[in-house]
Amino acid sequence: MKKRWLSALLIGALCVSLAGCQKDGGEETSTAPDSTEMTGSQEESESATETTKETIPETTKEASQRPGASGDDVVYTDIYYSDFEAGTTDFTGRSAETIEVIEGEAYEGAYCLRVSNRTSSWNGMKLDVTEKVQVQQKYYVSAYVKYIDGNVESQRIYIKMDYNNGESYLTVGSVLCTKGEWSKVEGYIEIPAGATSVAFYTETEYTASDPDYLIDLYMDNFYVQEIYANSNAADLPSLYERHVDYFKVGVAIGPAQLANAEAAAVITQHFNTMTMGNEMKPENILDYDTCASDPEKYNLEPAVKFDAFSSALQFAQENNMLVRGHVLVWHSQTPRWFFTENYSKDASAPLASKEVMLARMESYIEQVLTYVQTEFPGVVYCWDVVNEAINVGDGEEGGYRSADSYWYQTIGPEFVEMAFTYARQYADPEVKLFYNDYNCYDKMRMFAMLDMLEPLVEKGLVDGMGLQSHIDMTTPSTIDFEYTINKFAQLGLEIHITELDIKCTDNSVEGQLKLAKRYKRIMNTLYRIEQNGTADITNVTVWGLTDDTSWLSGDETHYPLLFNSFLQAKEAFWGFFRDPSVTDW
Ligand code: XIL
Repeated sequence: MKKRWLSALLIGALCVSLAGCQKDGGEETSTAPDSTEMTGSQEESESATETTKETIPETTKEASQRPGASGDDVVYTDIYYSDFEAGTTDFTGRSAETIEVIEGEAYEGAYCLRVSNRTSSWNGMKLDVTEKVQVQQKYYVSAYVKYIDGNVESQRIYIKMDYNNGESYLTVGSVLCTKGEWSKVEGYIEIPAGATSVAFYTETEYTASDPDYLIDLYMDNFYVQEIYANSNAADLPSLYERHVDYFKVGVAIGPAQLANAEAAAVITQHFNTMTMGNEMKPENILDYDTCASDPEKYNLEPAVKFDAFSSALQFAQENNMLVRGHVLVWHSQTPRWFFTENYSKDASAPLASKEVMLARMESYIEQVLTYVQTEFPGVVYCWDVVNEAINVGDGEEGGYRSADSYWYQTIGPEFVEMAFTYARQYADPEVKLFYNDYNCYDKMRMFAMLDMLEPLVEKGLVDGMGLQSHIDMTTPSTIDFEYTINKFAQLGLEIHITELDIKCTDNSVEGQLKLAKRYKRIMNTLYRIEQNGTADITNVTVWGLTDDTSWLSGDETHYPLLFNSFLQAKEAFWGFFRDPSVTDW
């Protein structure tokens, strides 16, 4: 594996231009669209394609204009390319497959690669790039892929990365292919620190019931490019300062981002609150080993540990940031053993009684609140006390989630009120208590939530409503969004938008511009509500810092957030900023 210094040298030589990123922070106007050039400098360093790897061709025009380079300061350097026209290949089988360069089926030119005699869906063509890549460096990989045989009319084909001699693997990208047609598969990947070997390989969809899932696979125009870019975030006006008269601006983060100086600087510059994406959830706080070591002793007072998030709270404290506590009582990311008699992990172990679970709930809430309030007073300024208690489809009266909720199954619907009762009892007086849920604008869900919350508000147990807001490009309409927010506000609840992201798999310039407009419309809606005084929206949190860390990506890669993987502000940043250059129509 090559060393980081090589990369540093290359980066140093490139002098990526960052000029032209500053946007007009002026106020919104309703006049004609502003035609301000929205992207950064078009200047490309002369040496952008210089490389110490002699046999590698120049970066092609197609590659340098790749969607994903939405910051113009992203520099792509080819480290491997093959169109197979030489009739030979460096690819091997991942197992005992037959690999051939064949004539006649090519995407371009005369030749392409074929793998046949496959033995598993995850065995295909493999290219070892150990000698070409560097750890902690990002790469863009693309290829055209095709299958011809079999009965399956379409199937997903993946490029994956296998590292440490097959011990670990990650998905680089995938594409849904139509039988007989070439499709482009592409994706970005960072080589993990400590990797000792790296290979890229193809995989087809696993459909064991279909004998055709081991069909031959064809590939053409395979690229691996090193990608590098500077973050422009430090040159940008601060997002939270922009919205300071309206609401706090938050971001969901994880420990890796806080440990990365560049990401941490972006977090403190642009956000004044943060939410731990996972680290304050019960699965990361409950201490199984201790509970299981003496189930009787810990039966009513579960053992807990705080190492997953304590350094994040310290970071927040040192940087004058507030934290949204997420989450105390939730059916998900709370292990089943917490709900069983004797903390048993046996899948058939009976659930504990209602009395035991109420005691465990109270103790858990008391211990967590006491810890954060003692060690980091004032830092966690609100809590999502209960998350996602409604799932109308389960058929319970009141629309309660029951099928997959051990809280409901052990305590019944009053688990919600009890959670708020305990939270109120142990929370410092200034700490705000929230109910948090998704798809709040779905009317069945909305009315179930309103019905559930009304009596709790009357009892003074709930202060706020968290609308997660994992939305897409069209749903909800801004009218629906406004209506929903106002309905919760009418109960007397303060409003937080707790997990905003907008599903978007289109990373082209046009796709990202649409996303920016959607963000701007959402922000305009929130401003309008505030200006009309129909709701008190006090926090808007985006669910993730950079696209590559978004929880939305699975089979398909999403580009839903405000920063790209290089910590560069995307157009969506300017939409969220309510910059006049992003029109909202
Ligand atoms: C998500 C995290 O972002 C993921 O990393 C994790 O794998 C699953 O949970 N609603 C919530 C959040 O309240 O806690 C969820 O976060 C997203 C949906």
